[in-house]
Amino acid sequence: MNNLFNVYPINDITITKGIGSYVWDDNGVQYLDMYGGHAVISIGHTHPHWVQRIEDQLHKIAFYSNSIKIPLQEELAAKLCQISGKTDYQLFLCNSGAEANENAMKLASFHNGRKKIIAFKKSFHGRTSLAVAATDNQKIVAPVNETENIIFLPFNDEKALEKYFAENGKEISSVIIEGIQGVGGIRIADESFLQKIRSLCDKYGAIYIADSVQCGYGRSGKFFSHDYAGVDADIYTMAKGMGNGFPIGGVLISPKIEAKFGMLGTTFGGNHLACAAALAVLEVIEKENLIEQAKLRGTYLFNRLKSIDGIENLRGKGLMIGFDVPDALKDLRKNLLFNHHIFTGAANPNVIRLLPSLAIAKKQVDEFLDVLKEEIATLSTVVTES
Ligand SMILES: Cc1ncc(COP(=O)(O)O)c(C=O)c1O
Repeated sequence: MNNLFNVYPINDITITKGIGSYVWDDNGVQYLDMYGGHAVISIGHTHPHWVQRIEDQLHKIAFYSNSIKIPLQEELAAKLCQISGKTDYQLFLCNSGAEANENAMKLASFHNGRKKIIAFKKSFHGRTSLAVAATDNQKIVAPVNETENIIFLPFNDEKALEKYFAENGKEISSVIIEGIQGVGGIRIADESFLQKIRSLCDKYGAIYIADSVQCGYGRSGKFFSHDYAGVDADIYTMAKGMGNGFPIGGVLISPKIEAKFGMLGTTFGGNHLACAAALAVLEVIEKENLIEQAKLRGTYLFNRLKSIDGIENLRGKGLMIGFDVPDALKDLRKNLLFNHHIFTGAANPNVIRLLPSLAIAKKQVDEFLDVLKEEIATLSTVVTES
């Protein structure tokens, strides 16, 4: 009997080692990781600086509660504000993406005393109560999570947003949006749409929450993908790339929102070990110029993908790229994994998501492209012959 609660459809692969953009299974088989362990691996698996910083910290102290001073938190907040360019924002540390979004929506509601939250079709914000309620997937919302406080509007529809604000503006606490929808299939928020959210939030006193859990931390070629719109959000939430696999989440908060004791809190958030991991990530991002790298590699990958016949609706920014797979190639992702040992991500229906480490080398991108072309050719031949 397996004592694990069975909630994941898993592949029959056991990964035991990782370096950079490669991982190895328990039989020593090497895999290219174009999935970044679900957009989590920002600086590469087991980056030596990250390992060293965590190890050094582990020998000192791993955890003490938030009732004492933790200078590592201040160091992390300062570095994050500097690298993200949001120099006058403040950081609240937690443990996951869902928790970051939960806290962001709660904070907005504390701030303006309102209850209604606008989210968008195909959004994914996590699995805790408010976060899952703001997620456009009825299948993962339990009856107890259902609330009339969340309103789903069509993504990138400025008219619908304007209309909703015009009719209900005084009740709206916040608007939460991914700069690039991840689970929703790599759908990019239009710059003009984000600008519209900014101006409507300003006009009606609502809070603009930029869910950057998947699309943030340099992945898009800017620190936050929302930055492409040239306007600031009031709150940025982040998690996945922040610890390169060490669990940590963050809420970056504009100075317009005043902190009060008791508003937010957590036992584990901001612990010494997590801060050391997150600091190592930022240090590597800075030293290895990984945001620029993500942009360069992403553009190269994107342009090469454009010339590959068979894939459809290519879209994305930086190293957050998606394309549709027609029915004839429905086995593409499975074959990439089991025949060629390449991990990619999926989204419904028939979308392949590419979310590799920001430090992926050109050679590895080429390796992926060669195999992709070969596998598409093989699958196409099978279809033509049958
Ligand atoms: C955009 C977005 N927000 C929030 C989450 C939830 O993050 P976590 O699984 O760390 O709770 C995810 C996870 O996939 C995500 O993609």
